[in-house]
Amino acid sequence: MKFQPARRVRGALRLPGDKSISHRAAILAALAVGRTRIENYATSADCASTLQCLKQLSVSVEQAGASVSIAGAGVALPRMALSALDCGNSGTTMRLLAGALAGQSFNSILTGDESLRSRPMSRIIEPLTRMGADIESEQGRAPLRIAGRRPLSAISYQLPVASAQVKSCVLLAGLNAEGRTEVIEQESATRDHTERLLLWFGVEVEAESEMSLSENGGHARHIVSLAGGQQLIARDVAVPGDISSAAFFLAAAALLPDSDLTIREVGLNPTRTHILDTLNVFGARASVEDRREESNEPIGDLRVCHNPNGLALVATSELDHAVLRGAPVAGLIDELPILAVVGSQIEGGLEIRDAAELRVKETDRISATVANLRAMGCEVEEYEDGMFVKGRTPLRGARLDARGDHRIAMAFTIAALIADGASEIDGAECVRISFPEFFPALESVCER
Ligand code: S3P
Repeated sequence: MKFQPARRVRGALRLPGDKSISHRAAILAALAVGRTRIENYATSADCASTLQCLKQLSVSVEQAGASVSIAGAGVALPRMALSALDCGNSGTTMRLLAGALAGQSFNSILTGDESLRSRPMSRIIEPLTRMGADIESEQGRAPLRIAGRRPLSAISYQLPVASAQVKSCVLLAGLNAEGRTEVIEQESATRDHTERLLLWFGVEVEAESEMSLSENGGHARHIVSLAGGQQLIARDVAVPGDISSAAFFLAAAALLPDSDLTIREVGLNPTRTHILDTLNVFGARASVEDRREESNEPIGDLRVCHNPNGLALVATSELDHAVLRGAPVAGLIDELPILAVVGSQIEGGLEIRDAAELRVKETDRISATVANLRAMGCEVEEYEDGMFVKGRTPLRGARLDARGDHRIAMAFTIAALIADGASEIDGAECVRISFPEFFPALESVCER
């Protein structure tokens, strides 16, 4: 696809439902007793994969556009699937469903596309095996053959990687376990949509955070636990707009002079809003209007305007460039490619560290971001766990490669808007994985 530079972005828009919340709403609805209606269900191909898998498990799923109605019969799912469950490109589908399937009295096979079959699954195989499930894999990769065990045994599990998918997998398995299942996160608290939705469906979930002091400074521990054998009661869910999709529009408005954009009804869960704070630290002007709550999730309208002074590190720091490292990185994991693009326009540039997880996303997002930024004329240093992007660098239009990764495609569509000259992105249609309406939505606010 070809892209021309833009002058500014202006206007107002609404975005499709949050992908993370949609997956969870569908899976929890399937495990609940009664019928759940989900409004503004994500239009993403990933969330369609979750619905397809639930149908294969004989769960009744009806869909009319963004309204989905699911009839569940409880945490013991009705029937085994007759063939392998195809999770497509979606890591969330595979990892969360594995948790729900581990405690069933039948066997399941989970598979996916080439990208998903290359991603690490030992991070869920390990805790689920400790809980009593038997899982065969291709050296820690899908397809996963899960021999369910009912009931599982509860465990206390300390996450070795900051991953909401792994946390959610263990919690979902915990619903079918004997005893109290506990997940402990060190330093970073990952997104907590599963916990919030479980509460919404009437499950008692406990969450607490502890702070301790040592010679190396303050340390945080976040503990979530639930007792097995609880029933979920069906309850309608309204899904807010996806803040990770909003991130591309926020970045466009922060980068293009004279921009002024309002994005209505966006999810503002504090584990997801680091992108707003981060852009503001870099000098963007993003604010929240009309904060409210919907289905146990905070939501509101976002307004973002361009700062005529440009982007620079606002914090009082001895550094000559901006840095993202440590605990906050997990809360920005999906936004790092677009932040790297923004980094090219920050005075002094942007250093990203502690982000090795990016290498095992839909593609190696460090390598893809570095290669595309370099193609646009930006000096970038690549590290095993991140990169340094030199700023401010005028970007030039170039031939770019999405590498089949939706967030890379969207990040570089925004980069193309601020470039000098036209750009071309190979494989840009992969935006359908999270945001099929991305190009028309962007066009509706772009002025040239
Ligand atoms: C997600 C969690 C993140 C994120 C992914 C969605 C979720 O993955 O990258 O897009 O819905 O739980 P990890 O938890 O594996 O980091």
